[in-house]
Order: sequence, then C-alpha cells, then structure tokens
Amino acid sequence: MRAYDIIYKKREGQKLSKEELEFLVNGYVDSKIPDYQIAAWAMAVYFQGMDAQETANLTMLMAESGDMIDLSPISGIKVDKHSTGGVGDTTTLILAPLVASAGIPVAKMSGRGLGHTGGTIDKLESIPSFNTSLSRDKFFDNVNQHGVAVVGQTGNLTPADKKLYALRDVTATVESIPLIASSIMSKKLAGGADAIVLDVKTGNGAFMKDFENAKKLAEAMVAIGKEVGRDTAAYITDMNQPLGQAVGNALEVKEAIRTLKGKGPADLTELCVELGAGMLQLAGKVSSLDQGKELLRTKLKNGEALAKFGELITAQGGSAKVIKDLSLLPTAENKVEVKAEKSGYVSAIKALDVGLAAMILGAGRENKDSKIDLAVGLELKQKIADSVEKGDTLAVLHYNDSANLEEAKAKLLAAFTITKEKKNKNKLLYEIIK
Ligand code: URA
Ligand code: CA
Repeated sequence: MRAYDIIYKKREGQKLSKEELEFLVNGYVDSKIPDYQIAAWAMAVYFQGMDAQETANLTMLMAESGDMIDLSPISGIKVDKHSTGGVGDTTTLILAPLVASAGIPVAKMSGRGLGHTGGTIDKLESIPSFNTSLSRDKFFDNVNQHGVAVVGQTGNLTPADKKLYALRDVTATVESIPLIASSIMSKKLAGGADAIVLDVKTGNGAFMKDFENAKKLAEAMVAIGKEVGRDTAAYITDMNQPLGQAVGNALEVKEAIRTLKGKGPADLTELCVELGAGMLQLAGKVSSLDQGKELLRTKLKNGEALAKFGELITAQGGSAKVIKDLSLLPTAENKVEVKAEKSGYVSAIKALDVGLAAMILGAGRENKDSKIDLAVGLELKQKIADSVEKGDTLAVLHYNDSANLEEAKAKLLAAFTITKEKKNKNKLLYEIIK
C-alpha cells in the first residue's frame, strides 16, 4: 500500500477501506508516514467527507492507537458524559455525584485543558487536599464502594488523535465533521464507557456556532456509537451565554455545591437534570426521561446528591467541610462590580468574551505551562432577558492581581448588549439525537 494512492482515492471522493485507514493511522503514529501526506489526506477528507462506516473505522483505529481502558472491574453499566465545551460549564462537578446518588456508577476521567477556566480536574483541586491522581485500582475500588470517582487522565490515550489534532490545527482542517466526530469519540471509546451522553453546544460561546453544524456533529457521533456498539445520545444545547453564573475554578465549585443543595441557577440545574436523565436511561435505570428527571430532582431536594458529593470528596482525601462552609475554598482578595451604563434589557451576552474576562483575571491557561489562580473569576448577575437599570451590577469580578483588571472590566462590559426591546431567552435544550 502507498499513502499516495490513498490520498488520491479520497481526493477523488471514493470510500477508503478499513485496511487503508489502518495503514494511514498506524503509519502516522509510527512516524512512517510524514505530516505532509497526512495533512493532504485530512484536506481531502475536509472536501470529500467520509461515510458513517469510514468514520467509525477511523474512530476505532484512533482509539486503539493507545491504551484502551477496561472498566469491567466496575460492576454495572458505565455511562460517560462529554461536553464539546462552553463557558462556565460546571456540569461534570454536579452530574457525577447526582447520577451516582441515583445508583448508577460514575467512573469519570477528566482533563485540565486549555480554556477560559481550568478543566474539571483543576476545579476539583481547589478543594483542600483533594487527590485527583488515584491509582487505577484505587479508582476502581472507589467507584465500586462509593459509586463515583473523578480522576485526571493518565496513560497513553489516543496518541493518533493527539498527533492528528495538532496537525489539523495548523493546516486548516479542524472544521471537518467526520474528523471532529472521530476525534471526540475515539477518546470516549478509549476511556472504556459502555454508553455515552454527549452535550453538543451551539451558539456564540460554542465550538459549533450554528445549530445546523452542531446537529450534523451530533448525528455523526451518534452514528459512530451505533457502528461500534456503544449506546450514544447527543443533546444539542444552548451556549449563547455562559451556563449558570460563575466562571472561574473555585467559584464554579461553590456554584456546583449550591446547585447540589437545590439552590443553583435554573439553567445549570435544568441542564444537569436533562443530561443526568439521559445517563440514567442509557444505564437502564429508568424507562423514560421524565422518570429520570423526576428521580434526579428528588435527589437534589432530599440532600442525597449533596451527600454523595461529600462522600466523593472524602474518598479522594479532600475536606468535605467545604460543603457546609464555602469560605474554606480559595477566595480572591478583592471584588469589584461592573455596572450597566444604560437601562433596558439584556439581549445578548458574548459568552467567549465573558470567558476571556475570567481568563484575563487569571482563571484560565494561555498555554500548557501557565499557572492558574483557582480563586479568581467572575459571577454574572444578569442574563439574557433580564431587565437592568443604569448602574445595576452586571457582574462581580473576583481578583487578586489588579494589573489586568481594567482590561477584564472592559471585556466584560463589552460582552453585554442592552437594548430597549426585550429579547426572549433561547431554549436550553434544542434537540436530542439518538
Ligand atoms: N475537540 C476535539 O476533541 N477534537 C476535535 O477535532 C475538535 C474538537
Ligand atoms: Ca457557570
């Protein structure tokens, strides 16, 4: 086989066989095929696409390029959840204990990641002495004993995707639905889940800005799940404003605790209940989504979800006192309010710019080695459709270092659009694809 012939075939719009894809993927990981040939192939895929079977084959080959985690020491159906990313997305911190409190095991491996705030692992590390790097055996034991564990990724997961994603990033080939779908799903398959709930965000703060593309991505990922025999449901949800109010690491942990107490922001609570019900359904715990939502709302009301979060924290060496006393979490030295400059209704919020404002304060990483300040970030006091008077607080910024404060304030203020006419809120959940 020759890479040239495979590139040529895809350029002409033909379907590649599993053997041809295997030749490319393995050859690339082993550095037998150079970047420029894989880049040419990726560009051919960008223009010609791949069908469901090709996409599933590519996904499986990328998953199998590194460690395949075997979750079978954990009893029960393991359902993973993945979000394509947004601003202030605290759902994992809430969903893990919430779903576990309903009796479904949650074995979650999460990342740190580059972004406006840290990833789930950074957020959890704002809990004093919380340990996110358990051994494999301890991880399994904790899930079996407590129904939940959340740890950082270890091992050599999907090296083919790592290499290919970095190459796509510099060759203008990221925005290809089959390549994105296979990239995301390869990581989920390598992680060992039996079933997968995907939160595909759409809107100005999302990777997929428009609904049509978000839907295509959702369909492509669900199709991969079908081809490889893992039940997959994709939720297309709104990201035209940050989720909840908090954007920042410890601030999001505080928001998660409030939500588990049943006192969280309505949008964040609703999304967690929706996604959690999807997880319960795929795990066979409930026969309908309504039944799942009902069960989860009960767990939020009766304190069992919150108690499960305390159990999770204790089992991973952290101090569960934070649940009763939020002031034990990292807290910034200073706060400042950003105020509305005119009266009217909030009609739009540029979610990415809100994220950037938090990042400017030090909540996120600009590159892999940046240090983040777990205490800083912001809280939105107004969301879309809220009415505001001139001088009302739009957001509270939490900061330690005032060097970039003015820049963060300006970014935040400019993220808000205030108009005379009221604009109704978008739906939170647009569609479920299964
Ligand atoms: N996120 C991923 O993990 N992969 C892509 O290709 C795009 C977004
Ligand atoms: Ca939030």
